[in-house]
Amino acid sequence: ALVSLRQVLDYAAEHGFAVPAFNISNMEQVQAIMAAADACDSPVIMQGSAGANRYAGEIFLRHLILAAVEQYPHIPVVMHRDHGPSPEICAQAIQAGFSSVMMDGSLLEDMKTPASFEYNVDATRAVVRMAHACGVSVEGEIGCLGALAGEQDHQRLLTDPDEAVAFVEQTGVDALAVAIGTSHGAYKFSKPPTGEVLVIDRLKALQQRLPNMHFVMHGSSSIPPEWLEIINAYGGAIPETYGVPLAEIVEGIRYGVRKVNIDTDLRMASTGAMRRFLAQPENATELDARKTYQAARDAMRALCQSRYEAFGSAGHA
Ligand code: G3H
Ligand code: 13P
Ligand code: NA
Ligand code: ZN
Repeated sequence: ALVSLRQVLDYAAEHGFAVPAFNISNMEQVQAIMAAADACDSPVIMQGSAGANRYAGEIFLRHLILAAVEQYPHIPVVMHRDHGPSPEICAQAIQAGFSSVMMDGSLLEDMKTPASFEYNVDATRAVVRMAHACGVSVEGEIGCLGALAGEQDHQRLLTDPDEAVAFVEQTGVDALAVAIGTSHGAYKFSKPPTGEVLVIDRLKALQQRLPNMHFVMHGSSSIPPEWLEIINAYGGAIPETYGVPLAEIVEGIRYGVRKVNIDTDLRMASTGAMRRFLAQPENATELDARKTYQAARDAMRALCQSRYEAFGSAGHA
């Protein structure tokens, strides 16, 4: 059934787990996410970005998720708009039937320029009013996730606990994206992690001040070295790079992280699986593209299941 983010995260908090939120833009991803959830009995969060809308079109994106809901009626599914750039875009998603929206007011509408605290509060508060009137949940964001910052700058852009408290009080958000050392995309860290990459102390401070808030961790791909190796073994040229270790995400879950955003890991699994499949001599004459997509879907499904299990959502559908 289609459910709100709030419903799923309240339940997750009660039971001390987190739910991976996978970005989707095609059918194979949706099917992989759902088959894995069905196999291990996990609730599901699927989210669409502006880029996903550009790729698939809003209508296809929505109906892919609705198809998943119809095919798996026993699994709670959140349909979430990732990184809404304005109240208008969030209103559009609400009207289209999304059960959750993110108002990303940490940046101006251009999604590049850092916004003031006041702008963020005003935009997010407006979205909360609209969304809550429709039973839709809202994720806000405070701090800078490091899309704009180099690795060294992360520290000074972490979410400030005083600001976070004021933001939550003034907006009424259901979930809060916090900056605790992660960044979007494949190139998070250029050296193997020695010690913690997440700033767990900051997360602890945030949880102490906001014990009932559901925290969201963006940029949570782990960049599996085995997929990196496969991509590069079959013609890829991805430079050395590292993501967020699963053990650290699990540590974050102890301090209130309830939604864990993952896009890049699925991209890596599908890219690696398709490169490997097409490179096999026995597939040199293969023209049935479904077999290539099938390889991608199988790889993504395994990855999704490992995340449901690691974050503890397995068994909680
Ligand atoms: O938040 C970023 C997600 O990874 C979406 O990426 O804009 O390329 O769809 P995208
Ligand atoms: P990754 O790039 O680490 O997968 O993060 C995705 C994300 O945060 C989407 O909002
Ligand atoms: Na989001
Ligand atoms: Zn994000």
